[in-house]
Amino acid sequence: MHREKWGTKLGFMLAAMGSAVGLGNIWRFSFVAGNNGGGAFLLLYLLFVLIIGIPLLLTEVSIGRKAESDVVGSFQKLAKGTPWYLTGFFGIISAFLILSFYAVVAGWAIFYFWNYINGSFFTQPAVGYEGAFGQFIGHTWHPIAWTALFMILTIVIVLSGVKKGIEAANKIFMPLLALILIALAVFSISLDGASEGVKFLFQPNWSALSEPSIYIAALGQAFFSLSLGMGAMLTYGSYLRKENKLPSAALGIGLMDTFFAVISGLVIFPAVFAFGIDPSSGPPLVFITLPSIFEQMPLGGIVGLVFFFALILASLSSSVSILEVPTAYFMRVFGWTRFATSVLMGSIMFVMGIAVSLGFGIWSGITPIGERNILDSMDYIASNILLPLGGLSMALLVGWYFKKSEALESADLSSSSIGGFWYFIVKWMAPILIILIFLNKIGVIF
Ligand code: TRP
Repeated sequence: MHREKWGTKLGFMLAAMGSAVGLGNIWRFSFVAGNNGGGAFLLLYLLFVLIIGIPLLLTEVSIGRKAESDVVGSFQKLAKGTPWYLTGFFGIISAFLILSFYAVVAGWAIFYFWNYINGSFFTQPAVGYEGAFGQFIGHTWHPIAWTALFMILTIVIVLSGVKKGIEAANKIFMPLLALILIALAVFSISLDGASEGVKFLFQPNWSALSEPSIYIAALGQAFFSLSLGMGAMLTYGSYLRKENKLPSAALGIGLMDTFFAVISGLVIFPAVFAFGIDPSSGPPLVFITLPSIFEQMPLGGIVGLVFFFALILASLSSSVSILEVPTAYFMRVFGWTRFATSVLMGSIMFVMGIAVSLGFGIWSGITPIGERNILDSMDYIASNILLPLGGLSMALLVGWYFKKSEALESADLSSSSIGGFWYFIVKWMAPILIILIFLNKIGVIF
């Protein structure tokens, strides 16, 4: 079957950056950092992005470009006759888990956008922003309607093909989102009492490092934010032409994504402390903090409107990369059309999203894993377990199954001075670190 290709390397870069930058940088980064004590978490997260994330991003894209197939098919092609391809199903499963809650949270963002259009969030509602948000997410069908809208938009982009739609929107709105975030950070830092928040983010509280769950949280956030380990980047890599060079692309995507996360932290935490919000509020954190910032700001209503619009587009360019993973797989295996496959996959995810949404209302008593509600449980399994396992499998394929020369060649590093270093990370350091973090979490070591 004929497979699509990106128009240009820039097209790929925009799509991959679009995939990486999204709710993960703003919403997920803030609440996970807030839950894990701030500074120490930020440091671990940066470390993991640098020594595991970016090298594995290069690995994942290389696998896709070499195999020219989806996440399961690529393992089948490159490790013929082995059961390696079974690990590809981690990616398929995590795509379902992640997009079903991603669409719910993106639905919240659309609801906020709507509130800035009709002016109802220009000033604090009688119940406060926290109260208004709580009422909204606890409502049985209101949030589900916004989730449906987001899912429909995602499906429409995916069914019209990978190239059209994704490339153009990102060119305008990623820079716009960056500019707004920088302006918001400057404003947030200037608030009274903001310095506590800057300290929270940049002064590590070392005792937080004795808690095993901080490592798995930082690793999961690195994977989630870089869109790593699911096969989304692999699938995007499979639409690349051979002549495109990968190392600079991986580095660029990684740095850009990290920049967005740190800037978001500088927007959220100073404001969290200035307004006396609890940094460990969990998933609602940014939805409580942001409207308070906009309210204080000159022209805040307009800034809020543009901000949420840009955030919705950033989320769409991420969600399409998630839906693309099972779509590419099921299209190939069953020979279905792109149209039928993306509609079917998206619909299943939407139904799962209904459960996620009800988890904030009538199903809030359901806690599948520990204290975690439905969203947190699905996020935990997908982001903290399945993504790192997917990344581990990719690292082992390139580090141990490929010959060294083959590995270097697949990543365009044959004649580069950093080739040996990258290979060492992929073969030894990243797998060992991932395994140690898992063992540490389940209490086997340390
Ligand atoms: N990285 C995106 C974000 O930060 C979300 C995302 C897109 C993702 N594709 C992914 C997460 C693949 C994990 C795997 O919002």
